[in-house]
Amino acid sequence: MTGDTEDHHAPLNVPRLRSLLSGSDLARTVIYQPETASTNDDASAVARDAGPEGILFVTDFQTQGRGTRGRSWKSPRNRSLLLSAILRPRRTLKPAELTQVSALGLCHGLRESTGLDVKIKWPNDAMVRDRKIGGVLVEVLPGQPAAAVIGIGANLNVAADEIDVADARVTSVLDETGLPCDRESVIAVVVGALERGYRSVEGGRSLSAEWAARSAVIGRRVALRSETASYAGTASGFGGDGELILDCDDGVKRRFNAGRLEILQRLPG
Ligand code: BTN
Repeated sequence: MTGDTEDHHAPLNVPRLRSLLSGSDLARTVIYQPETASTNDDASAVARDAGPEGILFVTDFQTQGRGTRGRSWKSPRNRSLLLSAILRPRRTLKPAELTQVSALGLCHGLRESTGLDVKIKWPNDAMVRDRKIGGVLVEVLPGQPAAAVIGIGANLNVAADEIDVADARVTSVLDETGLPCDRESVIAVVVGALERGYRSVEGGRSLSAEWAARSAVIGRRVALRSETASYAGTASGFGGDGELILDCDDGVKRRFNAGRLEILQRLPG
């Protein structure tokens, strides 16, 4: 799983990354910057200016990386996967479908490239052993409902205690495998997995079965905080649009399209 170089804190080898991504329709053009504010901001600016699908934005360091719900996304330089892609699907995809495509792309790509048992904590988080290893940020472009920017971040060659996060339990490929990984390969495999899911959804296929199969929360006790209330219960399934179905402790079955989910029933360890 290790790369050509022994220096796993080196910048991305961009010619090698381009070569691994050759043949990828989502990465016909790879725009690499050693440092940027946020690849999602870069991709949005290009997309707002009629930028086409097929441009992948990759960096080694973000100064204003953004996560979901207005949080920041931080990672030390040269250690992680930080990318954004412009999507212009042939049919307009719902935000929930875009989230499924992105989160499943990250989940499948990390599984394939690292061998880790990666699951999804609804709706955005890639998890290993209930610790967050990555996440996705989907942004539909204002005034262009058929276009979206998807941003993906994952902790690769960084120890969890070097990651500056306030709350969540986090992990990384390095912590889980004990070995640094080849960042160029992981990026290429994640983009490949993303593209496969995207093309099948664009063609009308549902990702519901995969969404349930890769879930880290089904059958487990969770707490869901929505904008207006908090509920505890058991996550029992997903609706057709990927919404979470919660069998709440008050006996009511509720469906959620958004919210912050906490797993109450911890895995051992
Ligand atoms: C989350 O789990 O909160 C989503 C994290 C998404 C982070 C990625 S890193 C690349 C892209 N650029 C950003 O500013 N955010 C996304």
